[in-house]
Amino acid sequence: MKKTISILLLLLIASALCPASYAQEGSKTDRSMKTESSKRVLVAFFSHTGENYAVGNIEKGNTHIIAEMIAEASGGTLFEIVPQNAYPKTYNACVEAAKKEKQAKARPAIKADAPVEEYDVIYLGYPNWWGDMPMPVYTFIEQHDWNGKIVIPFCTSEGSGLSDTEQRIAAACKGAVLRKGLAVRGATAQNDRPQAKKAVQAWLERISQ
Ligand SMILES: Cc1cc2nc3c(=O)[nH]c(=O)nc-3n(C[C@H](O)[C@H](O)[C@H](O)COP(=O)(O)O)c2cc1C
Repeated sequence: MKKTISILLLLLIASALCPASYAQEGSKTDRSMKTESSKRVLVAFFSHTGENYAVGNIEKGNTHIIAEMIAEASGGTLFEIVPQNAYPKTYNACVEAAKKEKQAKARPAIKADAPVEEYDVIYLGYPNWWGDMPMPVYTFIEQHDWNGKIVIPFCTSEGSGLSDTEQRIAAACKGAVLRKGLAVRGATAQNDRPQAKKAVQAWLERISQ
């Protein structure tokens, strides 16, 4: 009996001397790492091919290139938002069509959908069109419930950056938590992929802190 009591006492003293803050810190980190890695990630994007500003006639859109880099780094599932009626392949005609749709607040039908509700984190990518997202991106957003999702915008442009698309996304994706978006120059994505990749990696590190 005496022996049992002294063993218990020893154990008590040992646990009191143990650096509790270290032990807690360790378990907290483990927990958050587990949570991060178990998150389901979707990389949804709109991107346009054909003739475009500063890059000529392209077969893979600038935003598409960035979306692939993000999907590779995050292990996310890629999903392309494709309008049912394709935009013109010539730059000027596309610019005109996009302008009309923006003015009309159009919601063009899209070809397929992604099960947003099954994901925790959604990277949402688009080119800057007239200081806004292309209207099919709104079609996609508005057919889903964003409550509790983490939404991370990224965009390519030729100078305007994100414009105020982050605020527009915050308003449209009700109940979502937004992380700071990324803007990459379209010509960099298309013609200098190592540079674009650096920007993507640096941004992913920043937003994960
Ligand atoms: C219809 C249209 C409108 C555009 N409007 C803007 C703009 O307002 N600001 C800007 O910096 N770039 C603008 N651009 C350039 C695109 O944002 C840029 O080329 C982008 O990288 C294209 O991405 P994508 O290849 O994924 O479609 C526009 C391009 C098009 C086709």
